Amino acid sequence: MPMNPFSHLTDVPEASEICDWATERGIMILAHSYQDGFLQEAAHFVGDSLELARKAAEAQPEAICFCGVHFMAETANILCPDAEVFVPDLEAGCSLADSCKAVDLIRYQDHLEQKLGARPTTIAYVNCSAEVKAAVDVICTSGNARAVVDSIPEEDPILFVPDMHLGGWLNEVTGREMILWNGACEVHELFSVDTLLVLQEENPGAITICHPECPKRVRDASDEVLGTAGMLKLVKASEGKTFIVGTEGNMIYRFEKEAPQNTYIPAPGASCACNLCPYMQLNTPEKLWAALQERGPQVVVPAELRPGAEASLRKMLEIV
Ligand code: 13P
Ligand code: SF4
Repeated sequence: MPMNPFSHLTDVPEASEICDWATERGIMILAHSYQDGFLQEAAHFVGDSLELARKAAEAQPEAICFCGVHFMAETANILCPDAEVFVPDLEAGCSLADSCKAVDLIRYQDHLEQKLGARPTTIAYVNCSAEVKAAVDVICTSGNARAVVDSIPEEDPILFVPDMHLGGWLNEVTGREMILWNGACEVHELFSVDTLLVLQEENPGAITICHPECPKRVRDASDEVLGTAGMLKLVKASEGKTFIVGTEGNMIYRFEKEAPQNTYIPAPGASCACNLCPYMQLNTPEKLWAALQERGPQVVVPAELRPGAEASLRKMLEIV
């Protein structure tokens, strides 16, 4: 890694200066591991969806600048109701969250209730809007999804939204037959299994790790299926290994920083090799610096959605 990989940024202070500046003003900067290296360096805490939700709930800071995507900032606002929550770019959304509108979900829950004679328990992956969170029974993240599914009595039918790939993987590993919503992440959906197989042949001995948001054909060609926190734990515990990484490209920044003893190769995407999430990339150092000074744009979950969304999030936090 070069000494200062961000030296081209002339209009913003150094990442560490931004972090100190925010500390002095009572602002906690949280960043998802899919954010670019500068944003990770400027943050007080970098984590996966579960760790960031927990951090917001436990720290209860005066203000949070959330470097991630919109549903993550909403989660922080729900779990930390007294904090001002703001983001570098309000347009940073998520294709998975967009694939499940609350109105369609409620219609489908009603339909299933009629068909099955009982309303199924609905589990939502955290990648969904606050409106969807308010309409479901419990939330999960990639880090605790198995435990959340296992916590539902075996005889209860389950509807899992919105990620069909994560849901399909959970059905495989838990033996449940959850009904799945038809959503997908546009980044993880695009990994190419054909080029992955070629890469594996070129790198004998390499360990392929992929996120459960990847389609079955990619998961089946991988050695380990893990959420981002699980991946980090594995690479930190490994020595001198080569990993082919099937998740968002910026994750490799974190691996190289925290586990430099290994080699990391991005798994090939269908059309490009960057594997970057276009929504996460909307957050830039310049926008972070502007957001901190303006304490905006803010993310505020409407009052009528809070109790339901908070209940399903708290239920998850009680499970794991
Ligand atoms: P995790 O950090 O929970 O693994 O989530 C991945 C993701 O796609 C976040 O948008
Ligand atoms: Fe959403 Fe996929 Fe981007 Fe994660 S990587 S924020 S799931 S579009």
